[in-house]
Amino acid sequence: MRRLPARNGVLVRIAVIHGVNLSLLGEREPATYGTMTLAQLDAEIERWAGELGLSVTTEQFEGEGEIVRALHRARLDCDGVVLNPGAYAHYSYAIADAIAGIAIPVVEVHLSNTSAREEFRRRSVTAAACRGVVAGFGADSYRLALLALAEKP
Ligand code: DQA
Repeated sequence: MRRLPARNGVLVRIAVIHGVNLSLLGEREPATYGTMTLAQLDAEIERWAGELGLSVTTEQFEGEGEIVRALHRARLDCDGVVLNPGAYAHYSYAIADAIAGIAIPVVEVHLSNTSAREEFRRRSVTAAACRGVVAGFGADSYRLALLALAEKP
């Protein structure tokens, strides 16, 4: 398997993967998800990653299989993943298996505090396979996840 070595144990390449419906950020339920568009969020993610000395790629997929494939790809050339699966978090055992099947750490993020919302959002089947979870801080959930990967590879 092709893997870039981490520099002095520091994570250098992070794949940020946005899942289903996150393409609608900015217009989608702004009271819950804020008014920032996905493009604006990605620009912030790139800025935060730069500040932390990380190189980052950002991608968004609607499909479960596309997310699985992105996780498979990340294991080949990234040192960690920040993943917001969207609603797949609540039922996708395929994504959970993909996370468990790759050796690099995955941090799950949610913009909203899923524990404080509807019952079906309180359980994440993907979180169990992740290194950790950051939820409820809006766009800052991504910044905190990058920080976690930078400090606790
Ligand atoms: C979300 C929370 C999920 O429950 C929801 O289905 C989403 C967005 C979040 O970022 O808060 O699509 O992942």
